[in-house]
Amino acid sequence: MGVVGLAVMGSNLARNLASREGNTVAVYNRTTAKTDELVAEHPEAGFVATDSYVTFAQALTRPRTAIIMVKAGRATDAVIDELVHVFEPGDIIVDGGNSLFTDTIRREKAVRETGINFVGMGVSGGEEGALLGPSLMPGGSDESWVTLGPILRSIAAVAEGEPCVTHIGHDGAGHFVKMVHNGIEYADMQLIAEAYDLIRRGTGKTPAEIADVFAEWNRGELESYLIEITAEVLRQVDAETGRPLVDVILDQAGAKGTGAWTVQTALSLGVPVSGIAEATFARSLSSHPEQRSVSRELPGPDAATAFADDPDAFIEEVRLALYASKIVAYSQGFDEIRAGAAEYDWSIDLGEVAKIWRGGCIIRAQFLNRITDAYRAEPDLPVLLTAPYFVDALTRAQEAWRRVVTISAQTGIPAPAFSSSLAYYDGLRAERLPAALIQGQRDFFGAHTYKRIDKDGTFHTLWSGDR
Ligand code: ATR
Repeated sequence: MGVVGLAVMGSNLARNLASREGNTVAVYNRTTAKTDELVAEHPEAGFVATDSYVTFAQALTRPRTAIIMVKAGRATDAVIDELVHVFEPGDIIVDGGNSLFTDTIRREKAVRETGINFVGMGVSGGEEGALLGPSLMPGGSDESWVTLGPILRSIAAVAEGEPCVTHIGHDGAGHFVKMVHNGIEYADMQLIAEAYDLIRRGTGKTPAEIADVFAEWNRGELESYLIEITAEVLRQVDAETGRPLVDVILDQAGAKGTGAWTVQTALSLGVPVSGIAEATFARSLSSHPEQRSVSRELPGPDAATAFADDPDAFIEEVRLALYASKIVAYSQGFDEIRAGAAEYDWSIDLGEVAKIWRGGCIIRAQFLNRITDAYRAEPDLPVLLTAPYFVDALTRAQEAWRRVVTISAQTGIPAPAFSSSLAYYDGLRAERLPAALIQGQRDFFGAHTYKRIDKDGTFHTLWSGDR
């Protein structure tokens, strides 16, 4: 098999492949110096270095399998164009980059015409995951999965004895699921950040002390990679100033765009992923220093500190609120996957998706087992958070969740993801929504008509304002 694109992710994935018994890996990079460097640095890998697409194709045994790991976008198209010329029907081209799923759908369709299989594959876990075992989300045809399955199973992360890879569905399904994975990651990170902020200002604890809180949480139902690394980040001291590193880091969050894709796609599918959207917007808000600086004098409560009468009780309330909001964020993410599967005609096993996220990726967590259980018990579950386990957790969290959101509003500590998750939850529970009024307004100004609760059909009222 072969790897094209030898930046960090590609090199590490190639090394991972080469480390498996019986694998010989051909490598190619547009800039040959990078290929030579990788081969020289890792003689143990036994790489076959190639310096053209022709020699790359010649080095592979049939059916040829090449994994492309280049910058998503035009570079991916450029490499596919080259490979299509040197590959033959039955061969497999895998795009392991962070491609937009609609690009993958387009590419799969075009490549299929040549008889070559094209597989868009989400790869999660960053550099370390690529080297030691990522979570893999391949799409593409059933035929390609027959060849790819064993290869991918051998390099994927292992969670509770099972490889973190499954054939997600046809064409763009793998990249779609990877996109939503990233959106959920945005929400999870924002929720953790809000919890930290509330605890810091509510109890006056230092980052190092809050690190202990997160380390403790990591031993319970919140156990996850993100909670674990949060403790590490908060404990870190800046070597230069001796201050907690978190206080020295500029408070403007970056983003590479996958959160925005998740939200844009959800908007077009009509799926309310409000937690993911708030998390994405919170990063945007943080990154506008010019707006933040002119807004600093706006009226509102002074930044209160150490307002919690009972710090331990407050911390426990924040923990419960975090868990409840996290359940909402995941439920929304799975809802988007379900809606995407319906729209694009993919057959996606949601329980399997949760399973393959248990290892290798950034959102790996104990909690994912509960999602798998929920979909195993009821594959067509319309809303994940209505599964019995989550209902229990949400019941336990109720009072605390509402109190924490209230405290956020009263003290002026922004907690957009906490509060929007709660609003979503209450929206779902509501017996009647004011959407009825919106329908009335729409009918009033645009004769958009409405439906009634007591009879079938579509109605329009002759409003007094009608001309
Ligand atoms: P980095 O991750 O180091 O910032 P990048 O610009 O994201 O690099 O590119 C990642 C990989 O995509 C590299 O292997 C790069 O090849 P070069 O080393 O020759 O730059 C590859 N790449 C980018 N554009 C490409 C293209 N049009 N054709 C082929 N490979 C390309």
